[in-house]
Amino acid sequence: MFSLTGRVALVSGAGQSVGEGIAQVLARQGAAVIVNDLHPERAEKVAAGIAEEGHTAIAAAFDVTDYAAVEGRVRAAEAEFGRHVDIVVNNAGVAEERVIKPFRELSPEQWRAPIDLNIYGSMNCIKVALDGMCDAGWGRVVQISSGSARTGQNINQSMYATGKSGVEGFIRHLAAETGQYGITANIVALGHQKNLEDKMSPEMIEQILRTIPIGRLGDPVEVGAFCAYLASDEAGGITGQTLDFNGGSQTR
Ligand SMILES: NC(=O)c1ccc[n+]([C@@H]2O[C@H](COP(=O)([O-])OP(=O)(O)OC[C@H]3O[C@@H](n4cnc5c(N)ncnc54)[C@H](O)[C@@H]3O)[C@@H](O)[C@H]2O)c1
Repeated sequence: MFSLTGRVALVSGAGQSVGEGIAQVLARQGAAVIVNDLHPERAEKVAAGIAEEGHTAIAAAFDVTDYAAVEGRVRAAEAEFGRHVDIVVNNAGVAEERVIKPFRELSPEQWRAPIDLNIYGSMNCIKVALDGMCDAGWGRVVQISSGSARTGQNINQSMYATGKSGVEGFIRHLAAETGQYGITANIVALGHQKNLEDKMSPEMIEQILRTIPIGRLGDPVEVGAFCAYLASDEAGGITGQTLDFNGGSQTR
């Protein structure tokens, strides 16, 4: 069950953390994985690690917000694998120039990056794969989002949440439009993940852990396993859903 053998998967922002775990697990389940990242060296390291395990992956460095770059590199990867993209996991969602400030202190120029990345970046990766999926009568889209898309939080990240909310709306419509072609599109709304330990003080992590019923942060391989399930034949009956992956935290 849950085999992805014979499938080609594109995972964006897969050069580290959550995306790395997703790319690893999809490859372990048998998919040939296009490991995307903005930073070539990150993508190459993850693809090399997957190859060392005896699975199939290629590194594909491009900026998901640049449609021409996405299309050019994905077409080249498809030619390399001899098959169209069957599975898109839109994981890239944390903009490089992330600004953490209340809305009141943001200039209009600072609004764009997280919205471009989460909405247009995700749409670009789906758009380049969609005709191939429709023609084949099978496809899977998994959108990585966040609990912040559906809950107001005083965390100075309103533009990030705006991007996540916007893309969630798009995915629901995409699911409704493309179900007739055997395509499913679902949203995985993550809670706090392990890589926050590198970004926050132990005190802040302690505070966060008190809000998570399972008492620990999320693990990239567990997120990968959930994505692999959603990408499998066996999950064909689930579409247009937002599924929380947050250790039981309350998101609304
Ligand atoms: N880490 C968390 O606690 C958490 C919580 C909720 C949701 N999420 C979501 O999970 C996903 C992964 O988060 P993460 O913490 O692993 O992020 P991360 O910043 O550790 O890694 C993301 C990767 O995406 C790449 N990237 C950034 N912009 C890109 C672009 N324009 N094109 C291609 N690649 C790009 C980066 O180079 C980086 O390697 C994001 O969508 C994020 O919003 C994470």
